Amino acid sequence: FTNIVFGEGDPRAAIMFVGEAPGEDEDLSGRPFVGRAGQLLDKMIVAMGLAREAVYICNVLKVRPPNNATPTLEETAASKPYLLEQIDIVCPRAIVTLGKSASQCLLEIGDSMGSMRGRWHQIRLPTGRVVAVMPTFHPAYLLRSYTAENRQKVWSDLKMVMERAGRPA
Ligand code: URA
Repeated sequence: FTNIVFGEGDPRAAIMFVGEAPGEDEDLSGRPFVGRAGQLLDKMIVAMGLAREAVYICNVLKVRPPNNATPTLEETAASKPYLLEQIDIVCPRAIVTLGKSASQCLLEIGDSMGSMRGRWHQIRLPTGRVVAVMPTFHPAYLLRSYTAENRQKVWSDLKMVMERAGRPA
């Protein structure tokens, strides 16, 4: 890898987005979600009535995995303590986990996206703080499967997040 991609945004954000791992564009720039998936994430954030600067965006992994592979359980486990500290510092009202890898890592369950998304989950941080988590489809998956049904599902998930964060649609 070239750069550490720690995360960026408002360190006091009400909403935190957590992706899987930096891709090539992110590795080269040192910033999360700046490639094609990131551009779609930006559109989602704007549709929520927010600016990218008003949320916090990071990934489970802070460096690009070799060959861009899906992170192994070992890699996510090694990265997780840093993510949990990051969450504790930002202290968001809601976390949106993007895709299966980030959702399974934070929720510590092996379920499919279809059964995880669309409803609230809770995680307890090592400090004892409890944070609400809404899993939704990864924007890279949406780009590959840009159907009306999938877009509607993501929008429905994001509306629940806006309500919890005090910004109803
Ligand atoms: N995909 C991710 O999961 N994270 C990024 O930062 C970019 C693409």
